[in-house]
Amino acid sequence: MNTNFVSSLQSGLDDLAAKGTLKKLNYLASPQAARVQMEGRGEVLILSSNNYLGLCNEPEVVEAGIGALRQYGAGTASVRFICGTFTVHRELEAALARFVGTQAAMSYVSAWNANEGLTATIVEEGDFVVSDALNHASIIDSIRLAKAITKCTTGVYQHSDLDDLVAKLKANQSARRRIIWTDGVFSMEGSIAKLPQILQIAKDHDAIVVMDDSHATGVLGRTGRGTAEHFGVLGEVDVITSTLGKALGGAAGGFVAGPAALCDTLTQRSRPQLFSNALPPTVAASSLAAVEFLESHPERVTTLRENANYFRAAIKEAGFNPLDGETPIVPIIIGETADAIRMSEMLLAEGIFVTGFGFPVVPHGTARLRCQISAAHTRADLDYAVRAIQKVGRKAGVLR
Ligand SMILES: Cc1ncc(COP(=O)(O)O)c(C=O)c1O
Repeated sequence: MNTNFVSSLQSGLDDLAAKGTLKKLNYLASPQAARVQMEGRGEVLILSSNNYLGLCNEPEVVEAGIGALRQYGAGTASVRFICGTFTVHRELEAALARFVGTQAAMSYVSAWNANEGLTATIVEEGDFVVSDALNHASIIDSIRLAKAITKCTTGVYQHSDLDDLVAKLKANQSARRRIIWTDGVFSMEGSIAKLPQILQIAKDHDAIVVMDDSHATGVLGRTGRGTAEHFGVLGEVDVITSTLGKALGGAAGGFVAGPAALCDTLTQRSRPQLFSNALPPTVAASSLAAVEFLESHPERVTTLRENANYFRAAIKEAGFNPLDGETPIVPIIIGETADAIRMSEMLLAEGIFVTGFGFPVVPHGTARLRCQISAAHTRADLDYAVRAIQKVGRKAGVLR
């Protein structure tokens, strides 16, 4: 055992503890739902989950997973191209493509994997990849990986600053190809990418648009088809990636959706496809059931939107000033990381589970309580949460 290695890790953890920014794990003993059983605490109301549509414990979704466990067994025991492709993968991928409005889709074991597998496969030497400053860590790392492999050129434009985007594209007009990488919904802000303008800019500058819709799939648009549906531009984004770990049942998994030739290329060349096991069939089956459920129950999306609007108005009425937006992500800026974490602990004592996010997830000085609303919440849940946040805000001196 290398004791220096272990003691250097321990001193890093001690530093975080001294700053009050050490993350603590809370263990749940029941399914994700509006209210969950937290080990050692009993029932708490959850305001931190990506279970946007309440599908994590939807009977049809759960039963589909159980059925697949019986039909296909515990796992794939192989990567896709050897012997790990099951019929349920094909059904899921067809449903995902149909749902987000593309020719084809390819599943991965996570959206993180999908983003890394995609960028490293499509980017080549001489390309220019430009990324929104607030893009998710998986996009950032996917571009870093692609750059390390291909020596492509990369750039970052200020968050949603389209003049900056255009300037960066113009400066790289001689690149072999230009790729614009954006989140559909930015997870820490709850803001929505200016997609119609980005598509126009891409046309003007002969660029490819790649969008991660992880927080928009099942959430935005009248029927939950995501950012493109929200703006009425379904079918116009070159490549969409998203997760199965949030609105679509919440189990795990992600996907890339786009032209059939792209998905075929990923099958041939994307390294996570070639060297890592396929999505477990149980997860594929419950995700498929989630997509089908959503196709036949678009009213869930309406409930989610109404709940989010209700909470946003109520939290403003209670004296807070959350970041503006139209999504179910409602961030309440607190400032210092330790304060946000302390407030989140005080809220837990009130029976509300909402996570405080600080540096390095968000910039210094903008630590926040990120509230996430679900269609599973009742109005009584939301009222209770607002009252508790107000009480704790006063106690913590954040609210007068
Ligand atoms: C925008 C975005 N992309 C990708 C991911 C990663 O998703 P997954 O858990 O499927 O890897 C997340 C998860 O937080 C996300 O918010």
